[in-house]
Amino acid sequence: MSPCNAEPGTRNAERNPRTILHDANQVLVLTGAGISAESGVPTFRGPGGLWKEFRPEDLATPEAFAGDPRLVWEWYGWRREKVAACAPNAGHLALARWMLARTGVTLVTQNVDGLHEAAARSIDPAGPDRAMPVRLHGSIARVRCPGCGFSAEDAGPVDARSLDTLPHCQSCGAMLRPDVVWFGESLPVDALLRAEEAANQADACLVVGTAGAVYPAAGFVLAVERRGKPVIVVDPGPTSFDDVAAAKLVGNAGELLPALLG
Ligand code: OAD
Repeated sequence: MSPCNAEPGTRNAERNPRTILHDANQVLVLTGAGISAESGVPTFRGPGGLWKEFRPEDLATPEAFAGDPRLVWEWYGWRREKVAACAPNAGHLALARWMLARTGVTLVTQNVDGLHEAAARSIDPAGPDRAMPVRLHGSIARVRCPGCGFSAEDAGPVDARSLDTLPHCQSCGAMLRPDVVWFGESLPVDALLRAEEAANQADACLVVGTAGAVYPAAGFVLAVERRGKPVIVVDPGPTSFDDVAAAKLVGNAGELLPALLG
């Protein structure tokens, strides 16, 4: 069966997902860890998910960093190494190609792995910025200074043997932190505003590889649906959007996105 045909979960069988996306002037795309799963980046929930092995409150909160920065940096260093060994997969590439070939798509990602950016650059290194994602949860390849606000690219290895070997700010000397959003923290205002605007203007929403368990990201999808616009979900497992989806394409993003967007 073509991935674009209505699956058992489809509520609006007469509207093909390809047609929905083709007819929409403005599309909000929300991605999560699942789009990077076929690249080798672990997801958070479900089988093999990071939150099965680790507790978010020990590693992904400001309190955890204040209590044991060495442990937190060790974990982010390990994730950096994992991501550095990964390349964009067919799902990232199909999405980037589609965004470069048309206008009116805003890609909002919860991922910190940089693989959407790598996909866009690999297709057209000097291409327009419109295939670049709005990063809701920051970037694992950046650092930020809680003291003076300095921030910079840094995807290098982390030496977490002691507090002294952890990254320190070149401006004020304070300990740097990963430039990601932790639980209990506000999202970057720019990213939030851009995502809100895209949700308010979208004629359709494409959701890929997110369980929909974390807000405000999940709320953007529901905002589109509340405006009566169709939501298409691409995911091999259950998501919190399944009940409101006009179409659920059950399977891996690396297989389904090239067929849906190609
Ligand atoms: P989750 O781990 O919660 O969800 C991953 C989703 O991807 C699940 O619905 C899987 O079924 C699906 N999936 C797995 N393999 C896939 C594939 N090959 N193709 C498509 N989908 C696949 O990850 P997120 O929803 O991204 O936040 O998690 C949201 C946030 O929770 C993260 O940004 C992170 C986490 O805690 C923070 O750390 C603040």
